[in-house]
Amino acid sequence: MTPPLNIESGEGIRVRDTDGRSYIDAVSALWCASLGFAPARLTRAMTDQMSTLAYYHSFMGRTPVCTEHLAARLVARMPGMNKVFFGTSGSDAVETAAKIARYYWAAKGQPDRTRIIARDGAYHGSGQMSAALTGLDYCHTGFALPLSDVLRTGRPHFLRDADPGESELAFSKRRARELDELIRAEDSGTIAAFIGEPAMGAGGVILPPDGYWDAVQNVLAKHGILLIADEIICGFGRTGEWFGCETFGIRPHLMTIAKQLTASVFPMSAVALSEEVYDGLKPLAHGVGTLGHGFTYGGHPVGTAVALECLKIYEEMDLPRHVARLGARIKDGLSGLKNEPGVLDVRCQGLLAALECDTEVLAQAIGQQAVARGVFFRIIGPVVAIAPPYICTEAEIDHIMSVLAESFAAVSP
Ligand SMILES: Cc1ncc(COP(=O)(O)O)c(C=O)c1O
Repeated sequence: MTPPLNIESGEGIRVRDTDGRSYIDAVSALWCASLGFAPARLTRAMTDQMSTLAYYHSFMGRTPVCTEHLAARLVARMPGMNKVFFGTSGSDAVETAAKIARYYWAAKGQPDRTRIIARDGAYHGSGQMSAALTGLDYCHTGFALPLSDVLRTGRPHFLRDADPGESELAFSKRRARELDELIRAEDSGTIAAFIGEPAMGAGGVILPPDGYWDAVQNVLAKHGILLIADEIICGFGRTGEWFGCETFGIRPHLMTIAKQLTASVFPMSAVALSEEVYDGLKPLAHGVGTLGHGFTYGGHPVGTAVALECLKIYEEMDLPRHVARLGARIKDGLSGLKNEPGVLDVRCQGLLAALECDTEVLAQAIGQQAVARGVFFRIIGPVVAIAPPYICTEAEIDHIMSVLAESFAAVSP
């Protein structure tokens, strides 16, 4: 087994290994380091907060004032959301969202609505429920997963899964029809929620085909099933709007966020709830005397200070316009590769993009060539994933795309 590359330091969009070699990370590490690897303003926000209030919790009727402030800022930004519950990782945000969905139905007098529908190819985390919701076999094998409370439906991968001659719209309708059939077969009275990434990340950068989210939402609405949008990659600008829900016309009941919330320099996540869900929880929580769920480090003041500063930076960047401008250059770069032999597809939405090859071997070879040229992409099966930090200059995006083209040319069939 190859030992890991030891990363020692970072500056801007680059990291440096212990042998002094420098690399551009063109996937923002794990789709998350939106402001690079040594963002000075975030360091300042963190140290200022450390010397004011380094820690406090949000239990027993007390909470850090900055955490209240962040919750209000997020609710104002997140479409249709009313309250925010903080955690410390994307996985725990998904665990919380799943628990809240069940609690909501229990509070409504429908305690049998416990099951959650997730898609093939989804990635939702590494906790017990979040890994069970994940639709990737390597996350299940050996862990006694998935759980029986998870129902699985097809992924929206038009390129790989459409029937010959099927249009994008017809494929989307077929996926919605399959979802409807699943719900009918399993009994909607046992189903709490459906979870989906607006655009799928770890499953291979899968962008929803035409009409997909409309068709899915119609089915869910018909059966009264809650929709959880897992915005952990898409959230905060990645797909061109502030949230993937805005890019793709999704109206969720709950949203999970992490990664770009703090540009990943502090482990923090959140679940946002619509007013309908929040109000729905109250009777049960009041009866019990509390909502019996929370984390010691949830709403951590240092993470909160970082998140507030991130929001300020994103607003100064005019995030949607900024991402659109940089994303257009990725699209340009990809279009030059689109018709090359060995390339099945190129796709790009904002700063989330992919080159899909006909074989995994080709994608791996491209990835290795790129590392030798000082650029990290993420290779997911036959897919070369691209998701650069937001602080890239246009010249840096062009450089990343020319390294991709050179790497492809070096190994192309
Ligand atoms: C869509 C999505 N949900 C959840 C997670 C889990 O987040 P974490 O690794 O912070 O637990 C990830 C991580 O990549 C993700 O991409």
